Amino acid sequence: MTNTIAIGIQWGDEGKGKIVDLLAPDVDVVARFQGGPNAGHTLVLGDKKTVLNHIPSGILHEDTLCLIGNGTVVDPKRLVEEMDMLIEAGIPVTERLKISERCQLILPYHRSLDAAREVAKGKAKIGTTGKGIGPCYEDKTARRGIRLVDLTSDDLDERIDANLEYVNFMLVEYLKAAPVSRMEVDAMLDLARERLLPLAADVPLILQRRIKAGDSILYEGAQGSMLDVDHGTYPFVTSSNTVAGAALAGLGVGPGQVDAVLGICKAYTTRVGAGPFPTELYNAEGMECPSGKHMAEKGNEFGSTTGRPRRTGWFDGVVVQHAVRINGVTGLAITKMDVLDGLEEVKLCVAYELDGERLESVPACCKQLEAVEPVYETLPGWSENTFGATSMEQLPANARALLKRIEEVCDCPVTMLSTGPDRSHIIHL
Ligand code: GDP
Ligand code: IMO
Ligand code: MG
Repeated sequence: MTNTIAIGIQWGDEGKGKIVDLLAPDVDVVARFQGGPNAGHTLVLGDKKTVLNHIPSGILHEDTLCLIGNGTVVDPKRLVEEMDMLIEAGIPVTERLKISERCQLILPYHRSLDAAREVAKGKAKIGTTGKGIGPCYEDKTARRGIRLVDLTSDDLDERIDANLEYVNFMLVEYLKAAPVSRMEVDAMLDLARERLLPLAADVPLILQRRIKAGDSILYEGAQGSMLDVDHGTYPFVTSSNTVAGAALAGLGVGPGQVDAVLGICKAYTTRVGAGPFPTELYNAEGMECPSGKHMAEKGNEFGSTTGRPRRTGWFDGVVVQHAVRINGVTGLAITKMDVLDGLEEVKLCVAYELDGERLESVPACCKQLEAVEPVYETLPGWSENTFGATSMEQLPANARALLKRIEEVCDCPVTMLSTGPDRSHIIHL
């Protein structure tokens, strides 16, 4: 296998964890390049389910080195809990994991700010995961963030004091929320010093040496292209670049060190949190179309990190085409095909209509995207069971026809098809 970027190309939760875990034995290194504990990547092997937030989805494999890159934001408490969960399951995490010394740390005040800002926004809230992601990336850009390497720095105390003075002013005076104590922050820093600092590494150096030695790298994205801070449904997005381009900056590798971009998407669409979703059929707020309910129930569409119900809808070819363009996707991995089993008909959005005009791409303005009408093609569904299928011959003709149409509409070949949550439920095309 060559050096591949594997990313979500809808609104997250496309099944990245499953796909990366399954590809991991064919590579030498799996590296996360952005996001943090807002991610929840599920790996299923037999009756064992593992949900990872920070740790790359290659961690279950003995010979795979896992790297957390500088583009990520790390919550020390959450990451240590994640490591301990794996250690308890017999995975020697510390032998397989390295963390960039340049990673930004999510500290208790980031979570407080995230929560207080959402409350203050009221109805206009983004519906964040509440993990402190936005405030941590803000601090990075404002050049007051605390990185893993800074735990050894002489001026750490002063910098924390300055940050707390600013943050507590915001929390108490502006957001009318409780302040964060120095003690809480120090406890987090001590934990990071004790458990994470020993794993700190110069990630670009490791990657360069590995690539030179002929090893192959799988770059693992978090979230999805529609949550990208530049290319997504701004402001209803996360605070990092989630697109393929971010893999380079988020790890410290060059464009020549990437051979392929695998775009992972469901055979339908889901979204968790607020923001426009043109093909939406079903949500917890009272939208109740039976096909959407079928997807939510059969697909067990609840957030892996937050447990929140996910909104569901038809496959949006305009969104996926947009993602193919902005990421240079070379192959699609379609997941959750089995969830469509039993639907009488299946719809595919091929364009939008706005004020009588046909749109072939995603409008940059959220208000416009909220107002578009999807233009659908309707295909016959199938009653056969595709769950766990491992070859194209096992798929009904109507399922194969849907895949062919997805390839045509999105102008990209489907190279993998997932038919169940388990590592073994896969068709390579
Ligand atoms: P990620 O964030 O992209 O890694 O995706 P999540 O793990 O948050 O959500 C995907 C969910 O779908 C998980 O519960 C997976 O176990 C499950 N899953 C992945 N692929 C398939 C599939 O092909 N069929 C079914 N039925 N479930 C799948
Ligand atoms: P994985 O990697 C789905 C969404 C949140 C919210 C918005 C901003 O598992 O696919 P944030 O906490 O990042 O500031 O929230 O982004 N979001 C995700 N949705 N999957 C994710 O990650 C997500 N990470 C963030 O629901 O709408
Ligand atoms: Mg997820």
